[in-house]
Amino acid sequence: MANQASIQADSGPSSAPRSKSSEAAESGAFVVDARLDGVSVIYIDVPGASVNSLQASFAQELDDVLESIERDETVRAIVIASGKTDSFVVGANIDMLAGCRLASDAEALSRAGQAGFRRLETAKKPIVAAIHGAALGGGFELALACHARVLSDDKKTVLGFPEIQLGLIPGANGLPRVAAIVGLQVALDLGLTGKQLRPSRAKRLGIADDVVPQSILIEVAAKRALSLCDRPIRAKAGLFHQLDRLKNMAPQAALTELALEDNAIGRRILFRQARLITQKKTKGHYPAAMAIIDVLETFGSRGFEAAAEHEARLFGELVVSETARQLIGIYDATQELKKDSGVTDPKVKPRTVAKVGVLGAGLMGAGIAYVTADKASLPVRVRDKDDAGVGRGLAYVGKILDGRVKRKSLTRLEKDGITSKISGTTTYDGFGRCDVVVEAVFEDLALKKQILADVEKKCSVTTIFASNTSSIPIGKIAEGCARPHNVVGMHYFSPVEKMPLLEVIRHKLTSDEAVATAVALGKKQGKTVIVVNDGVGFYTSRVLGPYMNEAAHLLAEGVAIDVIDKALVDWGFPVGPMTLLDEVGMDVAEHVGRIVHEAFGERMTPPAIMERLAKDDRKGRKNSRGMYLYDERGQKPKDAPDGGVDTSVYATLGVTPTTKVETEEVQMRCVLAFVNEALRCLGEGILRSPRDGDVGAIFGLGFPPFRGGPFRYVDAVGAAEVLRRIESFRLRFGARFEPAPTLVNLAKINGKFYR
Ligand SMILES: NC(=O)c1ccc[n+]([C@@H]2O[C@H](COP(=O)([O-])OP(=O)(O)OC[C@H]3O[C@@H](n4cnc5c(N)ncnc54)[C@H](O)[C@@H]3O)[C@@H](O)[C@H]2O)c1
Repeated sequence: MANQASIQADSGPSSAPRSKSSEAAESGAFVVDARLDGVSVIYIDVPGASVNSLQASFAQELDDVLESIERDETVRAIVIASGKTDSFVVGANIDMLAGCRLASDAEALSRAGQAGFRRLETAKKPIVAAIHGAALGGGFELALACHARVLSDDKKTVLGFPEIQLGLIPGANGLPRVAAIVGLQVALDLGLTGKQLRPSRAKRLGIADDVVPQSILIEVAAKRALSLCDRPIRAKAGLFHQLDRLKNMAPQAALTELALEDNAIGRRILFRQARLITQKKTKGHYPAAMAIIDVLETFGSRGFEAAAEHEARLFGELVVSETARQLIGIYDATQELKKDSGVTDPKVKPRTVAKVGVLGAGLMGAGIAYVTADKASLPVRVRDKDDAGVGRGLAYVGKILDGRVKRKSLTRLEKDGITSKISGTTTYDGFGRCDVVVEAVFEDLALKKQILADVEKKCSVTTIFASNTSSIPIGKIAEGCARPHNVVGMHYFSPVEKMPLLEVIRHKLTSDEAVATAVALGKKQGKTVIVVNDGVGFYTSRVLGPYMNEAAHLLAEGVAIDVIDKALVDWGFPVGPMTLLDEVGMDVAEHVGRIVHEAFGERMTPPAIMERLAKDDRKGRKNSRGMYLYDERGQKPKDAPDGGVDTSVYATLGVTPTTKVETEEVQMRCVLAFVNEALRCLGEGILRSPRDGDVGAIFGLGFPPFRGGPFRYVDAVGAAEVLRRIESFRLRFGARFEPAPTLVNLAKINGKFYR
């Protein structure tokens, strides 16, 4: 049943034409409000769902609704809007896609979607989409099939094709329609990046016809629909539309587009370039990206119908591909985590957080202050040990905000609003009323204990103390403190403003309430949150240990630095382990490596070269001295010889970098060291579930998303096969490849982590 209250509210000011009947006509997900001005507003309102997603039944229902409106001579024009308060249509129903077993099933869905939207496009009366909130994927395609689009100027209103993130392509002609309206290059960009367009950008590009306040959205859309009544309704995907558009463009832009898009040679250059860049970026791991290029190239050279045909076939193949299966699995996991309070007892509620304190305004502290003020919209008090520290932190936040203003993702007024939420100090003034204090001072146990003692003295008895330590067990920090139940770990990743993961760590005495509060705060800060139990390195820092160690073993054997990195990047990591070492700094890596070794013994023994490199002051990018060459600003010089490697590393280590090891062996040694440790974390109860392990590895450590994370990877390869490979490494390299008991047990029963 549609939410009539929200429909009435959306219908605009009281001067708006009233409905002919108080009861709107209804058919499944569609509710029709026939107005006195001759406009019928079709509200999409999927019953029982908080947001609209496209269902297989839509095509028939929409056809029925349109037919009845077309027969009604009193109706001259149509507006399509959403019956939900804050979103338009967020895409196709993922369960419906995941339920397809055969490519032909998914292909049929695509064809039905195409036909449904073609029905809209060829309706006998003009149709205008009135969009407030997200119109994504199929929702965006629906809007594109309408004859015009009016958007609310609200922050929640965005248009985009997120399909690529699920290993899919838009399957209902969205790409060719964007290309027809605004050109192939925009369509390529939107399809390949999955980026979301805000209303002002959509208007500048010509995808939106109007952008207006939400209060008058339906009115403006209705007027526009009526204004289209006296014009012939022409499908936008035609050549005429393209010529119209070129006439209205700036001469330079029109020339570029003509040169690249409107002739066969130009298009060939455009698509060849797109393929080259895409191959370089994806290494062939994301077939959907090439499929998007294929569909648009077909549209450019052979027209709309040929592109539709090609699109349906490719969509079918992609839906049942392994890549899409893994990416959809991860998407589902993040959706589940959004609803997860972090504790098992449903009665436990997070405490209200009205103010946050941050201790330490360094790289991490400043980032945490920024996401708290911006995303969570909460006041933040930041303390550092001296004015210079406070100044550096505030300057860091200022730089992020200035960048956003420059990119037009923020107005100056909004920037000032965020800045005004953050205040700095070198004392504890203003900390008394902080509900959560996040500590991000140096990685030093004694210092962190001292800071906790200060907070217990200066803040309230209910203040939650969250440490951002990357390796020290939370229980050790809490040892001997007055209120250990208030102590929790909130492990953010660098740079905090960009990295999506937050690892919340509970030690034995942490209260459920503290965990739930940390989880709720993390979500408000825009993070995907996993909760893990306490232990050295928790989950993320711990699994990174054996992975980095293995890369260092390879280097010690004489495998070249860039060869190691390339192998892992080819496997799907965003950067290789040697580059990662430079980002972290050998000082930090060696320190964490030592802690992890002390805790877990022989199998975590770091290769001796780690200590030697740390002694050689290779702090990486920080001091422009690492595995690669850096200029004084910490940037890699362009076109440096030897792949940019600082070859003096080899002399320092007494290694000749000529050892040839098969790429697959380099990859498997590092990856399986990582995977094996992840399985140990599950077996030892550090992880609550394989889901959390997969999400943590992908969003925190860059494990390739298309492989689904370490647990989904084991399922895909088979536990017995993974065990066989690890055993073969154990025979060659010893204890560091001792298989995790969880793996041995799973292989015995031929089991899987996921059903
Ligand atoms: N850098 C990373 O990638 C990363 C990632 C996750 C976690 N961490 C952890 O976050 C913490 C901070 O790391 P960072 O990289 O931001 O370090 P940083 O050196 O950039 O910042 C530390 C800040 O703490 C301040 N400080 C030191 N003693 C203080 C005191 N007594 N009172 C107030 N401020 C004090 C310093 O002046 C400095 O500004 C560490 O525990 C680190 O292990 C770091």
